Amino acid sequence: MTFETQQKRVHQHVDALLQAQISALGDHAPTLKNAIQYALLMGGKRMRPFLVYAVGEALGIQEADLDAPALALECIHAYSLVHDDLPAMDDDDLRRGHPTCHIQFDEANAILAGDALQTLAFEIISHYPLSVFANQQRIELVKILSRASGYSGMCGGQAIDLDSTNKRISQSQLELLHSKKTGALILAAVEMACTLSTDITDQSKELFRQYAQTIGLAFQVQDDILDVIGDSETLGKPQGSDQEQNKSTYPALLGIEGAQRYLSELHQEALQALLALPYNTQVLRSFTDFVIHRNY
Ligand code: IPE
Ligand code: IPE
Ligand code: MG
Ligand code: MG
Ligand code: MG
Repeated sequence: MTFETQQKRVHQHVDALLQAQISALGDHAPTLKNAIQYALLMGGKRMRPFLVYAVGEALGIQEADLDAPALALECIHAYSLVHDDLPAMDDDDLRRGHPTCHIQFDEANAILAGDALQTLAFEIISHYPLSVFANQQRIELVKILSRASGYSGMCGGQAIDLDSTNKRISQSQLELLHSKKTGALILAAVEMACTLSTDITDQSKELFRQYAQTIGLAFQVQDDILDVIGDSETLGKPQGSDQEQNKSTYPALLGIEGAQRYLSELHQEALQALLALPYNTQVLRSFTDFVIHRNY
């Protein structure tokens, strides 16, 4: 199966399960329900779910146990995008090829859709059916997801991002910013899959963590690069938004060629972590290449 076919398969699988979650919501607040559905299901690459399934498959975990972490992560991610686009944050009007949630609906519904998606993630991770062994890991899954989403992870990273706007920060500060705002959820994808393995060694866990941290940073470095050299139509979001707002990014700090060189180093580092793992990591190698070379 080609990587594109695998990507499509995960996309369809995840969307069907997410749609079922939305359909199960009551109809007492129809505008909010539409805003949640819009934010979650209109476009997007489903990279974090893909990573959950790819690591899970390498570890021999049954797919049904990977659904809850995959869906929950996508809900947190979708919420982070809705709030990231708000006027108080990046003030963007295009996301996943469509008007941003606050443009399509209004700011109040966009804020509430983000809030509701965040709690839906924790509803899924705490209620979704799991096998007997995976059920024993549920609290661990909640711990990983909550730490990655809040102050220690994505929200903290977003705060550093806002605080670093119109400033020149050092490379290590920028790495911290990226590792939190984007890296934390990508690390959580890998950690949740590892937690569901019955026989993974500490050494392999550490290699998976190294892989996730490297790919998480690479993901945001490429996102920064695409903001400079991409085009809005392919990206599905406004090209040049970072430059317009004078955000702290890798191209701003190292120049576009410096950022591309750094991305190649991260690519090699990620592949090396995979090579050291005693599992079949073919799918993860293709995922890595996609993250580095993607144009959307
Ligand atoms: C965009 O993430 C925001 C970042 C963390 C860089 P994605 O590029 O995964 O966005 P979608 O889900 O495909 O829209
Ligand atoms: C946002 O980073 C990461 C999130 C936590 C949503 P960006 O602000 O660079 O994401 P895009 O470029 O708008 O997708
Ligand atoms: Mg942002
Ligand atoms: Mg943004
Ligand atoms: Mg960006």
